Order: sequence, then C-alpha cells, then structure tokens
Amino acid sequence: MKAFSLNLFRKFIIVLVLICFPVGTIYLINRAEAQEAEKDYTKARVGKKGSKQYQEEDAKANYYGYCTPCHGETGKGDGPLAETLEEGVEPRDHTSAEYFSQKTDNEIFEVIKFGGAKAGFSEAMPPFDGQLSDDEMRGLVKFIRTLCKCQYKK
Ligand code: HEC
Repeated sequence: MKAFSLNLFRKFIIVLVLICFPVGTIYLINRAEAQEAEKDYTKARVGKKGSKQYQEEDAKANYYGYCTPCHGETGKGDGPLAETLEEGVEPRDHTSAEYFSQKTDNEIFEVIKFGGAKAGFSEAMPPFDGQLSDDEMRGLVKFIRTLCKCQYKK
C-alpha cells in the first residue's frame, strides 16, 4: 500500500513537471519576445517626449498598430483584414487626396473616435474611443493628412 502511494506521488510529480515545463518555457519565450519588441519600439523613437517629432512617431506607431490591419501599410485600404470584411465593404483609401480634401479634420477625427456607423458609414470601421486618447486620435488625423498629402478644401 505504501509503495503504491509513493508511486502515485511520483507519477503526480512527473506529470506536474511535464505540464509545467512546456508552459513555463512558452511563458519565458513570450516574455523575452515582448521585451525585445518593446525595446525596438522605444529605440525606433528618437523624438523627445512632448515634442512634435515624438507625436509624429507616436501617430505612426498607432497607425501601424491599430489601422494597418484593415487600411494597409501604405493606407491604400488593402490590409490583411480587408478581405475578411462584409461583402462590398472596403476600408477607405487614406492616400486619396480627392476624397480626403472633401473631409474636415473634425469629420475624420469623429469617425476614428466614434466609429463608422455613427457617421453613416459601415460599422466595420471600429470606434477607438477608450483605446486611444483624443490627442492620439488627432495625431492620427495629421498622419492621414500626410498619407493623402492633402488638406480640407472647400
Ligand atoms: C476592422 C477594420 C478597420 C480598422 C482596424 C480600421 N478601420 Fe478605418 N475603416 C474601415 C472601413 C471598412 C472603412 C470604410 C467604411 C465605409 O465605407 O462605410 C473605414 C473608414 C475609415 C475612414 C474614412 C471615414 C470617411 O470619412 O470616409 C477613416 C478616416 C478611417 N477609417 C480611419 C481609421 C483609423 C485612423 C484607424 C486606426 C486607428 C482605422 N480606421 C482602423 C475599417 C477599419
């Protein structure tokens, strides 16, 4: 009986180690990767916090983090998620000067903040209120202005 329970205990330890080892390894690898990514991210920023350059870098980082999945790396609306959207719905081409010169900064800001549906567009364009601050979203409006190389024209 004693030998049996010892065996059971050993088995239990072995199973425990077998489970903990891969889980622990995956955790450590993930953490190392996250730290590496964080380092690169800060390295990529050269502007001082609060400076105009910092804000521009911040907007770019936010654009690449939150918008390119749908709007694409160059803003043309051809991101990897674009194909998964509802039939007939396409992320707006942010490089279109023709389109964005008809839009005020405030209109663009509101679509980013409150989402497409509120402005009468598709709900596939998500609201970023709560995820990004107003300043960050204003930075994104400026960034879109660099993509379309345009300003609002009456
Ligand atoms: C899940 C996909 C998706 C993501 C992520 C996304 N968008 Fe969109 N966005 C869309 C779609 C789809 C439309 C077009 C909606 C329509 O045509 O009805 C759109 C439209 C827009 C428009 C055009 C509004 C107008 O006046 O026509 C702007 C500006 C915009 N998105 C900005 C952004 C920004 C900035 C981000 C990142 C913070 C972002 N989007 C993230 C899908 C997305």
